Amino acid sequence: MTSVLTVVGQRDPKLEELVRASGGVTTVTWLADLTALLDPKASQPDVVLIDVRHARAVPPQLATLKRQHPATNVILLAATLDPTLMLEGMRAGVNECIAEPLQQADIDAALTRLLGQQTKAVAGPIFAFVGAKGGVGTTTTAVNVATTLAKLSPAGALLIDLHLAYGDAAVFLGADARFSLLDALENLHRLDAQFLKSLVCRTVSGLELLASADRPATRLLDVRRLGSVIQLAGSQYAYTVLDVPRSDLTVLDSLDDVANIVVVANQELATVRNAGRMAAALRARYPRTSVTIVINRTDGRSEINQQDVEKAVGSAIAHQVPSDYRRALLAMHKGRPLALDNHNQLAASFTALARDLAGVETKKSERATGGFKGLLSGRR
Ligand SMILES: Nc1ncnc2c1ncn2[C@@H]1O[C@H](COP(=O)(O)OP(=O)(O)OP(=O)(O)O)[C@@H](O)[C@H]1O
Ligand SMILES: [Mg+2]
Repeated sequence: MTSVLTVVGQRDPKLEELVRASGGVTTVTWLADLTALLDPKASQPDVVLIDVRHARAVPPQLATLKRQHPATNVILLAATLDPTLMLEGMRAGVNECIAEPLQQADIDAALTRLLGQQTKAVAGPIFAFVGAKGGVGTTTTAVNVATTLAKLSPAGALLIDLHLAYGDAAVFLGADARFSLLDALENLHRLDAQFLKSLVCRTVSGLELLASADRPATRLLDVRRLGSVIQLAGSQYAYTVLDVPRSDLTVLDSLDDVANIVVVANQELATVRNAGRMAAALRARYPRTSVTIVINRTDGRSEINQQDVEKAVGSAIAHQVPSDYRRALLAMHKGRPLALDNHNQLAASFTALARDLAGVETKKSERATGGFKGLLSGRR
C-alpha cells in the first residue's frame, strides 16, 4: 500500500530521511502552508506533518482542514512538548505530537499508530433515521431496516445508536452490549477497524451494534469526532445504519458521509409540520444526500392523508409502514426484530424499505402493501 506524507514547513533533509526510513511512507511531499489541502474536494495525503519548530504556533488553517477532512491524519512537530501548544494542537484536531530532538523511534511510533489505523475502503452506504418527533418509531424502523440489511450482505451491517447515553436500540435487538459509542468517542486516538470491532456486539440476526452508553456523557458532543466514527464504520461494513437522536440535534451535523437520511413521521399535524421543516433543513445542509420521508404507523382513516403529508413536506412519501402496535411491542419485549420473521405486513414493510434503500429488488411474494414507491435511490 502506498502512503503519502505531506510535510508543511521548510524543507528539512534530516526530517525527510527519518520519515522515509520509518518504512510506512512511500512518498513525501512538501508544502509551505495548508492552503492547497483545505478545499473539500482537495485530495488528501495519508498524513500531514506540520512542522512548527520555528513558528511555535499551530497554523489557524488546521481547524478548517480537520473540519473539511476529519479523516486526514495530522502530526505536529514542535521544538519542545510545550503544554499550551499541545493543547492548542489537540483542539485543532492534531492526532500525534512529536518534539525535538528528532528521534527515529518517535516518528516510527507516530506513523505506525496513524497508518496502522488506515482501513480498507469498503465504503458501503450509510443510512440515517431521524424522527420528525419523539416516539414516531424511529428506532423501530432503524433496527428493522438494519436487521434486513445484515441478512442481505455477508460483508455485514452495523447499527450505531447515536444517542450518546440511554438509547433504546440494544433493547430492540436483545443485545447486552459491554461497550458503546461513547467508548469510541473517548478513545478516538486509537480508533481503528480492529478497535471498532472490539466495541460492537453481534446480535441474533448477525447485525452488529455499536450501542448507546449506560452512563451519561461527561463532555459535550464533538461533531467532528462523531463524524470520524461514522466514516470509519462506513468503511468497514457493507451497510451502516444510524439511529439519530432528537434530544441532541447537533448530531445532525455529523451526517456528511450518509447516503440517505430518512425522516420518520406519522400523520399527526405537529409531526407533519416538523417533517417538512426538517427535510428542508437537511436538504439545504446536505445537498448531495437523498432526504426522504417515511410514514410509520400509517392510519388509513386519518383526516391527514398521504397527499396532505406530501404537500406539507414538499416531496413524495417514499414508504408507508403499516400500524401494528401489538406486534411492534411484542418484538421489542422479546428483543427480536420483526424483520427476522418476515411473515406479517409490518415485517414485510420494513424489509421492503431496507431493500429499496439497498437497491435490491423486492420479490413480488414479499412485497408489502402500503404505498411503497421505490423512491429511495442513494447517491452512492
Ligand atoms: N409501525 C408501528 N406500528 C405500531 N406501533 C409501532 C410501530 N412502530 C413503532 N411502534 C411502537 O411505537 C413506540 C415507539 O417506538 P420507537 O421507540 O421506535 O420510537 P422512537 O421514535 O425511536 O422514540 P424515541 O423518540 O423515544 O427515540 C414503541 O412502543 C413501538 O413498539
Ligand atoms: Mg428511539
